[in-house]
Amino acid sequence: MKPVKVGLLGLGTVGGGTVNVLKRNASEITRRAGRDIQICSASARDLTQPRICDTHGITLTTDPFAVVEDPNLDIIVELIGGVSPAKELVLKALENGKHVVTANKALIALHGNEIFAQAHKYGRMVAFEAAVAGGIPIIKTLREGLSGNRVEWLAGIINGTSNFILTEMRDKGRAFADVLKEAQALGYAEADPTFDVEGIDAGHKLTILASIAFGIPLQFPKVYTEGISGITPEDVSYAEQLGYRIKLLGIARRADKGIELRVHPTLIPAKRLIANVDGVMNAILVKGDAVGPILSYGAGAGAEPTASSVVADIVDVVRALTSDPENRVPHLAFQPDAISDIPV
Ligand code: NDP
Ligand code: HSE
Repeated sequence: MKPVKVGLLGLGTVGGGTVNVLKRNASEITRRAGRDIQICSASARDLTQPRICDTHGITLTTDPFAVVEDPNLDIIVELIGGVSPAKELVLKALENGKHVVTANKALIALHGNEIFAQAHKYGRMVAFEAAVAGGIPIIKTLREGLSGNRVEWLAGIINGTSNFILTEMRDKGRAFADVLKEAQALGYAEADPTFDVEGIDAGHKLTILASIAFGIPLQFPKVYTEGISGITPEDVSYAEQLGYRIKLLGIARRADKGIELRVHPTLIPAKRLIANVDGVMNAILVKGDAVGPILSYGAGAGAEPTASSVVADIVDVVRALTSDPENRVPHLAFQPDAISDIPV
């Protein structure tokens, strides 16, 4: 069979990691997907910059629209981030008959409803596992693994940068600004790190998780968001002395009149598992009525952990290329006409 042809938009932390993982594990991935996967082209703003991956054999361009207009490509992987031009590129790619894989939580949380409608119109898939919790396959866990459950609540550490900062402040007494700089250098932080430290990135991820868990539309504006920018070293140290840890949690739970969605720093007893999730690691607790509580744990950011999720989505799309669009797993777990307007 002919290889599946992929175009990458963005060759930064996640784009570079994706090239590396696809190249290193090519034979394993082909055995899983049933077809060879070939990255044919990739875009970046500045082609003179050094890259973390070997781009040999990939056609490089500074024009991402040239990639989505290429009739030879089957899948577009969007790893630019932000809303514009990512949204225009994704909508154009779908219109051009391509399937889309993205790690962009802001895009899905804010414009996912429109993007999934476009995907539905053109019979194409949009896969976004990497958009939440980096390498943890939490989207697939909620959407497929827990589809027999009524989810009661979920709570998680879903921003690696904030967790890294809180951990370094606690363990090494380091200054907030100094650790944030390191998180940026390590490629964990968003292009605008305010999103990380003000709880916005966690809010985007919670929006997506809640939609899949409860079958509600994506509605980021309804999420209460408060970040860690006001947390001082004294707060961290007093919490420790009292037997608690401060963690930035995203919480979604059924309440009396609807679904409650909130992101804020939380005091957690130090002996709890989730209080011991440190550094860039993420963890999400989900309570289903049948399964009870489950905990998913792993790296929440970084080149290869995130690439692990991107590549898994590419494999899913390749496997689905031959399946009937009507029978594919719905984007938000519930059938599109069964998404209900439970108040949030
Ligand atoms: P980077 O900033 O490292 O990479 C972004 C890439 O997109 C770069 O190659 C950049 O070009 C290119 N780019 C940026 N802006 C534009 C533009 N306006 N037009 C065209 N190309 C552009 O980001 P990341 O790899 O860290 O993140 C990519 C996506 O993955 C984001 O949505 C992010 O939220 C998400 N994500 C990131 C994780 C992480 O750990 N970093 C984890 C999970 C998700 P150039 O290189 O020339 O500057
Ligand atoms: N900036 C994000 C974080 C990247 O720190 O969690 C992973 O989504």
